[in-house]
Amino acid sequence: MNVIEYLKGKRTYRKFRRDAIMGEALTAILTAGQLYSSAGNKQGIKYVVVNKPEDVKVVNSLVHWAAYLPKEVGTPKPDEIPVMFIAVIQDTDVCPPNDTDAGLAIGNLQGAAWCYGVGSCIMGAIDRPKLKSFLKIPEEMVLHSMVAFGYPLKESHPVDFKDDIKYYLDENGNTCVPKRPIDEIYRFL
Ligand SMILES: Cc1cc2nc3c(=O)[nH]c(=O)nc-3n(C[C@H](O)[C@H](O)[C@H](O)COP(=O)(O)O)c2cc1C
Repeated sequence: MNVIEYLKGKRTYRKFRRDAIMGEALTAILTAGQLYSSAGNKQGIKYVVVNKPEDVKVVNSLVHWAAYLPKEVGTPKPDEIPVMFIAVIQDTDVCPPNDTDAGLAIGNLQGAAWCYGVGSCIMGAIDRPKLKSFLKIPEEMVLHSMVAFGYPLKESHPVDFKDDIKYYLDENGNTCVPKRPIDEIYRFL
């Protein structure tokens, strides 16, 4: 598979099979979370991995899915929820929070996951106080986001942008994600 085919597939996924993420796939995701670039190589990102089904259920109740879709189609049903969440935490004992570092760390997690067919969703619309308490994250640390993982039940594809950036579902329940055209986003000097 060439890099563009890989990146077209490495989308946001929100509905998942019940298969656990284990072995080489899990190791690759965790290692990717070690290998991100960071300003000054400070490496201020810490993680909490949530993969016990009962814990995943609790975390899932504290995140918000697919703001552009009606709840009944955008939110995973109980048998479609992720099988793993990773909390991405900015450890202020190491360095001040740096969102570029967090983004690069998340990109690594997602990139490694997709190499194994594991889909993911970055979750910024989350109940931070309740999640921090449940995940036992110390007060002074910043919960940047949760990232949901699982083997996708549905597909997701980039589609040509017409007049709206909102993603939508096609007749098969697959996600279509409008992307602005190359000639709109680049300018050569
Ligand atoms: C910083 C950030 C926060 C996001 N938060 C949420 C979220 O809370 N819930 C959700 O369902 N999707 C969330 N997403 C996923 C975006 O909706 C998704 O990336 C966007 O629609 C583009 O789709 P794509 O990732 O397939 O290109 C978030 C993405 C980013 C980058």
